[in-house]
Amino acid sequence: MAILIDNTKRVLIQGITGREGQARARLMLDYGTRIVAGVTPGKAGQTVLGVPVFDSVPDAVKALGPIDISVLFIPAHQIKPAALDAINAGVKLCILVADRVPAWDAMEIAKSARAAGASFLGPNTLGAASPGQGLIGMIGGRAESAREWFKAPLPGGTGIGVISRSGGMGTSTAYYVGQAGVRISSIVHVGGDAVLGLRIPDIAVMLEADPATDAIVVFGEIGGSQEEDLADLITSRRITKPVIAYIGGKAAKAGTRFSHAGAIIEGGKGTHAGKVAALRAAGATVVDSFGDLPAAVAGALRAKSSRSLMSEAERKATWTTAITRIEPNKVAVRGRGIADLMGTISFGAAVHLILTGKLPDARIGTLMDAILVSSIDHGATPPSCLAARTVASTGASLSQSVAAGISSINRHHGGAIEDCARYLGSLIEKARALSTSGTSLPAAIDQLAAQEILRLKSTGDRISGFGHRIHTKDPRTARMFELAAQAGLRDDAGTHIGAARAVERAFAAIGKPLPINVDGAIGAILADLGLDPRTFNGIFMIARTPGLVAHVVEEQTRERPMRRIDPVNHAYDGPSGA
Ligand SMILES: CC(C)(COP(=O)(O)OP(=O)(O)OC[C@H]1O[C@@H](n2cnc3c(N)ncnc32)[C@H](O)[C@@H]1OP(=O)(O)O)[C@@H](O)C(=O)NCCC(=O)NCCS
Repeated sequence: MAILIDNTKRVLIQGITGREGQARARLMLDYGTRIVAGVTPGKAGQTVLGVPVFDSVPDAVKALGPIDISVLFIPAHQIKPAALDAINAGVKLCILVADRVPAWDAMEIAKSARAAGASFLGPNTLGAASPGQGLIGMIGGRAESAREWFKAPLPGGTGIGVISRSGGMGTSTAYYVGQAGVRISSIVHVGGDAVLGLRIPDIAVMLEADPATDAIVVFGEIGGSQEEDLADLITSRRITKPVIAYIGGKAAKAGTRFSHAGAIIEGGKGTHAGKVAALRAAGATVVDSFGDLPAAVAGALRAKSSRSLMSEAERKATWTTAITRIEPNKVAVRGRGIADLMGTISFGAAVHLILTGKLPDARIGTLMDAILVSSIDHGATPPSCLAARTVASTGASLSQSVAAGISSINRHHGGAIEDCARYLGSLIEKARALSTSGTSLPAAIDQLAAQEILRLKSTGDRISGFGHRIHTKDPRTARMFELAAQAGLRDDAGTHIGAARAVERAFAAIGKPLPINVDGAIGAILADLGLDPRTFNGIFMIARTPGLVAHVVEEQTRERPMRRIDPVNHAYDGPSGA
């Protein structure tokens, strides 16, 4: 979760062809923001960094569908019509970057936004960022720096939300708090003007509702009543998360504008002392010096034993992995100590764990083992074995030779596992659609499978995972399904195994018994276990690697270099058994 911007939001840039628009579009795209369109009147048809440009926001919406957010890199005097163009086209959030926007224009934009149920950030704003998700505006500079400085909450974890009245200090606040080991859920610069769209209290209410936010950090300033209004929200318990604030402008005298247009004390209102007193009375922590803010935030989170806090190593990291944690004297795979796994789970269960993050029960571990055992080798003729042996015969090393074998595992060798799983999945999906119109799911699957087999008969196409060039009754398949049943997998309609059975029935019905082969069975089982089909070819590689190592070592120790390898005429001379 995040507020204002996340990785699902479709973003448009008005003024994308301008100087700042182009430069910031690149940074936002680099950060991962979903920029779907740009707008500059008279420049439709152009593209900026691959983003299509339209003459108006309604044109962009008509061509591409609804837009969630528009970022306006348009000078102050041209901003009102541009913002109204976006609001009238249904955009629900505008980011008004320009400074010196006339207060009257800002008020008119506010009126239209209110009427349309939209809102805006700014004017005079650097925008907002949700670390790891997206960035709208100019926060954080280069995407790489932004990634390094602002560490996102872990999946399902939390961070702090930063709200600032100063662009530069908002970024600095997030940076220094991050240096103190704190993760950041959102950074929002509300803008420095006197007339604003979303104000500190509005953003605080959003952060209060955001499950990814543990605490709210505010960089406030003299002038206006945003901080006092936030204090009221804390007092009335609409904000219950810890609030830690710093208020700039302590030394400013009444009537002096303190850097931003909105930072001015008028008629004794909006003073530094008044804001600090209001926030402290409400229960917020207000630090006297900006330098004290990071420690105060970390301290408040520690008191809450919050998941927003990072270790030293996490703080220094420039990228993250969720697979294995390595610390001195500690190795944990997907959160489980490796010493605890050793001797207690099977290798198949470990493969399941590392690929999915979930430790399966023992029966599924046994099934995964069976999958790996079933594919450990299939003699000397498969392309992977021939490739490995051929490369080994040139004097190549073990790793080079095995890698050559692995490189030949592709769509047509080992790929039937994934292809068959996807095929059966599409059959189930189509059958589900058909079953909504009165036909039962089992009948729909049988009907579709029969239609499909007739189509294949006429076109001569094949379904991956059915039939085998050597076996008519593959010894591995029946055992595989037996173990799947023992592991609790069902074979009724709606499962991949059930769909495979329907296809076998349809083949038999046209007098062409073509049973599912071991690859097809593995594909159906892995899909029913819920594994990602993109890993299926990899599971085959894991299984086949020991076989390839055996073939390479045999080639290197038994055969002479550069021999001509006959792919067909060879004989087995190992121990006789089954
Ligand atoms: C907003 C701002 C960044 C724009 O500056 P810029 O990029 O140098 O301006 P440019 O003139 O190059 O680009 C503006 C573009 O908007 C376009 N534009 C004008 N009206 C438009 C409209 N209604 N819809 C879309 N685009 C429009 C212009 O045609 C121009 O594009 P072009 O150069 O391709 O013709 C600048 O005016 C500004 O306010 N800077 C200060 C920002 C700031 O500091 N904010 C506070 C942070 S704390």
